[in-house]
Amino acid sequence: MKALVLAGGYGTRLRPLTHTGAKQLVPVANKPVLHYCIETLVDASITDIGVIVGDTAEEIRTALGDGSAFGAKITYIPQDEPLGLAHAVLVARDYLAEDDFVMYLGDNFIIGGIHDLVRDFEAERPDVGIMLARVEDPTVYGVADVAPDGQVLRLEEKPRDPASDLAVVGIYLFTPAVHEAVRSIDPSARGELEISDAIQWLLDEGRTVRSSMISNYWKDTGGITELLEANRAVLDLLEPSMDGDVDAESEIIGRVRIEPGAVVSRSRIVGPAVIGAGTEVTASYIGPSTSVAGNCVIDASEIEFSIVLESSSIRGVGRIESSVIGREAQVTRAENLPRSHRLVLGDHSKVQITP
Ligand code: TTP
Repeated sequence: MKALVLAGGYGTRLRPLTHTGAKQLVPVANKPVLHYCIETLVDASITDIGVIVGDTAEEIRTALGDGSAFGAKITYIPQDEPLGLAHAVLVARDYLAEDDFVMYLGDNFIIGGIHDLVRDFEAERPDVGIMLARVEDPTVYGVADVAPDGQVLRLEEKPRDPASDLAVVGIYLFTPAVHEAVRSIDPSARGELEISDAIQWLLDEGRTVRSSMISNYWKDTGGITELLEANRAVLDLLEPSMDGDVDAESEIIGRVRIEPGAVVSRSRIVGPAVIGAGTEVTASYIGPSTSVAGNCVIDASEIEFSIVLESSSIRGVGRIESSVIGREAQVTRAENLPRSHRLVLGDHSKVQITP
């Protein structure tokens, strides 16, 4: 069995972070989402991995290399334009050859692995195997109508009037039957070749599509809220460690990972939280579910339920919550009167200011 990991796309929902970087490389607990994906595949003994890349190809190649660091062999497959998930299968035709494969969306995040999915697929060998998760708002997902025995009856992409609250998780298993399907469908109203349409095409041909409920945790990290939630879920499982310097005036409570070279002084850190290598935290409060990447400065500030990317600084500001701060960003206090907000924001930034 091979794997096809989708790491192209535009990532409009994560702008402005995705103006300067691939969304699949945004860190969760200081590790790129895409690394978890490759590790999950290798853990299920799938090591022959094709990675679909678009505009951010160089960055993805730098992050994954030839795959040997993960115990995998990675083949990069360029997709000129992100014309849809089924289009990615189309461009990977030669790589996939006549093998069964797992298709894994590079921004999807699960806890609990894919062993059961792969085992059931290999035992029953349907044409397609999918995983489903109950969601509050099915209208933004691919949605399945499923018989009580798990047989999928219908699939619809982002339906206005959903048949169920069962969303299709971004990890699929296919036999080579999918190749004819992706060649046969037309682009959807949004101009993409939809994988839901390809699977529906197979259903219309009388093929079998099996589903199982995801037993553990799943998030599509394509949006800020979901990214923060995935970060919270990983931090809840964190192995605490203390490899940096923490002075006697600081207090570390709960599961906290302090990476090598981090320096914490006169601060209070309430886990679960991770402080990246070389980061300095001084006279600050870092609250639960927060990941601070490497080489940051947090000084006289408070931050909770947030992700801070590398080399950023936050100085002298009150409580920051539910926030994602990009690389090399600087957040500072304005000292002058009248009290006013001075902002230099990238395109598509979102800021909420307390009056
Ligand atoms: P999506 O999140 O559906 O699409 P997107 O990356 O364009 O994001 P947004 O909606 O925020 O604009 O894509 C799921 C995953 O598949 C993601 O990792 C990007 C990848 N992808 C490709 O590799 N090729 C494609 O043609 C598409 C549509 C997505």
